Amino acid sequence: MDNVILTTRAITKEFPGVKALDSVDFDLRSGEVHILVGENGAGKSTLSKVILGAYIPEGGEIYLGDEKVSFKSTRDALQRGIAAVYQEFTLIPYLNVAQNIFFNREPRNKYGLIDHKKMERDAKKLLESLNCDYINVKLPTKFLSVAEQQMVEIAKALSFNPRIMVFDEPTATLSEREVESLFRRIKKLKESGIGIIYVSHRMQEFKHIGDRITVLRDGKKIATVNIDEVNDMELVNMMVGRDISQVYHRSENHFTGEVLRTEKLSDKKGRVKEVDITLNKGEIVGIAGLVGAGRTELARLIFGIDPIGGGKLFIKGKEIKDNSPVKIVKEGVGMVCEDRKRMGLALNHSVMWNTVAVSLKSFFPKLLISHKKIVEIVTDYVKQLRVATPDIYRACKNLSGGNQQKVVLAKWLSANTDIMIFDEPTRGIDVGAKMEIYAMMDKLATEGKSILMISSELPEVIGMSDRIYIMNNGRIVGECKRGELSADQIGALMLGVGGDSCAS
Ligand SMILES: Nc1ncnc2c1ncn2[C@@H]1O[C@H](COP(=O)(O)OP(=O)(O)OP(=O)(O)O)[C@@H](O)[C@H]1O
Ligand SMILES: [Mg+2]
Repeated sequence: MDNVILTTRAITKEFPGVKALDSVDFDLRSGEVHILVGENGAGKSTLSKVILGAYIPEGGEIYLGDEKVSFKSTRDALQRGIAAVYQEFTLIPYLNVAQNIFFNREPRNKYGLIDHKKMERDAKKLLESLNCDYINVKLPTKFLSVAEQQMVEIAKALSFNPRIMVFDEPTATLSEREVESLFRRIKKLKESGIGIIYVSHRMQEFKHIGDRITVLRDGKKIATVNIDEVNDMELVNMMVGRDISQVYHRSENHFTGEVLRTEKLSDKKGRVKEVDITLNKGEIVGIAGLVGAGRTELARLIFGIDPIGGGKLFIKGKEIKDNSPVKIVKEGVGMVCEDRKRMGLALNHSVMWNTVAVSLKSFFPKLLISHKKIVEIVTDYVKQLRVATPDIYRACKNLSGGNQQKVVLAKWLSANTDIMIFDEPTRGIDVGAKMEIYAMMDKLATEGKSILMISSELPEVIGMSDRIYIMNNGRIVGECKRGELSADQIGALMLGVGGDSCAS
């Protein structure tokens, strides 16, 4: 085959109880973007990590060109020009942006001391090549937003001048503008002959930049095809191995009474400005907006993570003063966070423990806790959400990214809260599981639960919401009922242009 730069033959990788990769053949050409797709837990990250030297496979071979290689660590792979943007974050929070990018290989001056000036200059250049010159290279990365951290991860990978780049769901946390910058950069990398492996769940996106696509299912390779020779339905069928018809489904339902209201609610940092919203019993309300519009900040404010700076918050008619998460949870509110690593899960604990973490008390008001009962409940959620795990005792850190997200959902579902705040609930979740989550949201609404949903995926907001608020620069700039505005009109409001029709 012409200009193949990397080949894997019959790669097998097992974890206790799971065959994550089952005799997988794969190849990468120079100058191509090779997409890896498949359901959560299909083995995409595992294959990437084998290629990157992070996992040592039990069987199979890896070739760079014609040369057989065996990497003992990511360092070995890096030395041979293979760099990665991992699905999980790898930045050290208290080091600044430049220090993170050049960690352990800082440029030195003639006295052997770290040349901070040069390091910061170089970091700046890398970020500029990604159109991210707004990121301050002297700031510790813990102060950056998730999207900004992701751009730093990408800059870091680029700084190695690799021949092969692996991107594991790089855009899951990015806004449209950043995605565009990234894609422009990827096109340039391609032109310079770099081979790119790109893991993604977003069909629109990978159709746009991909050349070939490999589908994995349950650790096995299903097929490798040219992207322009396959249609969406064929792809989905290959991924899930079953037919899928309707994505967004909403049942007829009625709203009865208000459960949440804000009056000129503001935070203390000026990210949320005089927000008026309401949420009714049985209603799904979406909040659309670009990254940085203040949506996550609004959610944090309502959930009591950040203090209220001004205005009022009412839950079930009662004003909440001195908000805190403990207080808000007591009022029956749950939240699925944008950043599951930091706030959603205790990664070292089991699926079982995480699922019942919030609900234990409500399930078992008496002292006696029945282990059998817990196992039953958790097993049920694992089945409903199709969490790919060999058993419920597995530590969450050993689950694939999308399956971790499902556990976060299970945790709040089992807590049986009346009001749920979902911040990017389907981030990193595959098509099949997304539909299960949508179906679950619809079911919750018909049962009289209320959902406030933040999502960067506009089709999801439009498809699932009874009502939509559009946020821009900390303010609500528009509101519409289901079906009232088109995606274009909502998009214009999100960008802060147009939209006289229903601005609130
Ligand atoms: N370190 C580990 N220990 C045990 N099991 C693991 C480990 N890493 C992955 N697995 C298991 O291997 C399988 C494949 O996981 P992998 O992370 O490769 O999936 P993925 O295709 O990347 O999914 P996602 O789309 O959710 O990111 C899953 O069943 C997962 O639970
Ligand atoms: Mg993965």
